[in-house]
Parts: sequence; structure tokens; C-alpha cells
Amino acid sequence: MRIILLGPPGAGKGTQAKLLKTYFGLVHISTGDLLRKVVAENSVLGKIVKQYMDKGDLVPDSSVVELLKERLSCADTNKGFILDGFPRNGAQAEILDNAFKEKSLDIDYVIYLKADEPVIIQRLSGRRVCSKCQANFHITNMPPKKEGICDNCGSALYQRSDDQEESIKNRLKVYLSETASLTGYYLRQNKLLEMDANFEATIVFEKIKSALSKKY
Ligand code: AP5
Repeated sequence: MRIILLGPPGAGKGTQAKLLKTYFGLVHISTGDLLRKVVAENSVLGKIVKQYMDKGDLVPDSSVVELLKERLSCADTNKGFILDGFPRNGAQAEILDNAFKEKSLDIDYVIYLKADEPVIIQRLSGRRVCSKCQANFHITNMPPKKEGICDNCGSALYQRSDDQEESIKNRLKVYLSETASLTGYYLRQNKLLEMDANFEATIVFEKIKSALSKKY
């Protein structure tokens, strides 16, 4: 099964991707995570990418597409995958369609996680990420057992630089201007499953499972 998770920042794409990965045995590919790895390497490219990400702007298509194609060429993706954070504009959607056509593959479902702005802001401003294993927590919605410490590996939690107020506002603006119209693109391809993602994560996941079981 090949799934795209679409939705505004903070809708819960990463959270649902992890649940889907475990439940269906799929590979989770997050372009945000791939880019954060490049930034952590502190290379010339990493420094350029960081400037876009800190502001909440989209990283140029050429850099993201190259990273994604490299990841999709790995053998583990043969068992199916979840794309989290890609595509983010019309050009990326077309590049993806063409790349799949060349391999006679297709995307099965595009799950559109829809969440209201106050919910999004509450989720993003309270998110904390593990500095070592990248596990996600939330100070009130999904708090770690010990404040500031990762439940999985015991490392320190940090706040993403793009989870500051200014950057969150810009990410929402960029989502509306660049990404939101992709729902129409995938609706026309009859692949879109729209989900109300304002609920607690396990409830959203149950709704996704139920929608997929009717289709799959
Ligand atoms: P990326 O890392 O993809 O960020 P994003 O799309 O802004 O998404 P988020 O990770 O912020 O939110 P999410 O929807 O995954 O929510 P999550 O599950 O984490 O991209 C970062 C940057 O990289 C971009 O701004 C851009 O610069 C660049 N980039 C990435 N892809 C690109 C591309 N294709 N082209 C160009 N540039 C690209 O949850 C958030 C919080 O809420 C967590 O704390 C979680 O615990 C909590 N939570 C989640 N679900 C629930 C729930 N149902 N109830 C309560 N709490 C919840």
C-alpha cells in the first residue's frame, strides 16, 4: 500500500504515519525528517536548507525531490510506504506522478487530515522532540513520563525552531498558498480520503483504519 498524508502543519501527519507504519508494516518517509538530517550534517547545503526551514518556507523543489528519489530507491520501500510532507505543491505532485508512472506504480490513497487553526497552534507550540531518537511528545496532549526527557531513550527533549509563533504563522500561510489546493488534485484522481483530525490521535487513527478497510 502506498499512502500520502496531506494536511496543514500540526494536523498530525507524523503521528498518524507512525501508527500506520506499525499497523500495516509500511515504511514512513518524512521529507521534513530527511531535510532535518541534512541540516544536522551542517554542510553548505544544510545551512541553506536551515534558513528556509527556520522561517517556515518551502525548501526549493530540486533539493527535496533529490532527497526523496534517493529514499524511494531503497529496497525497503517495496513493501509499501507512507509519504509524510510530500508533495507540498503542484510541481512536486506532478514529479511524483511521473516518477511512479515510469515504474508502473501508483499512489493508492491520499489521506487528508483536516484540523482547525486553534488546534494546530496548540499542538505545534506544545510539541517537544527527542534530540536523539526524534520521538515526538506534547507538553499536555502526549506528555513524556518525566518532563523534558524522552520515554524511549532517556535523551533531552527540545522545541523545533520552526515551532516558534512567527514560523508557525508563516507555515500556515505557506500551506494555504502552496499546498492546500492539492486536495483538489487528488480528489480529481479519486484518491482523497478526508479525515477530521481535530480528535485525539487514537480516535483519528481508528477513523483512518475504518475508512481504509472499506476501500482496501
Ligand atoms: P515537516 O516536518 O513536514 O513539518 P509540517 O508539515 O509543518 O508538519 P509537522 O511535523 O509540524 O506536523 P504534523 O502534521 O506532522 O503533526 P505531528 O504529528 O508532528 O516540514 C518542516 C519543514 O521542512 C517545512 O516547513 C519546509 O520548510 C520543509 N519541507 C518539508 N517537506 C517539504 C517539501 N516537500 N517541500 C519543500 N519543503 C519541505 O503533531 C504535532 C504535535 O501535535 C505533536 O506534539 C503531537 O504529539 C501532537 N498531536 C498530533 N496529533 C494529535 C492529536 N490527534 N491530538 C492531540 N495531539 C496531537
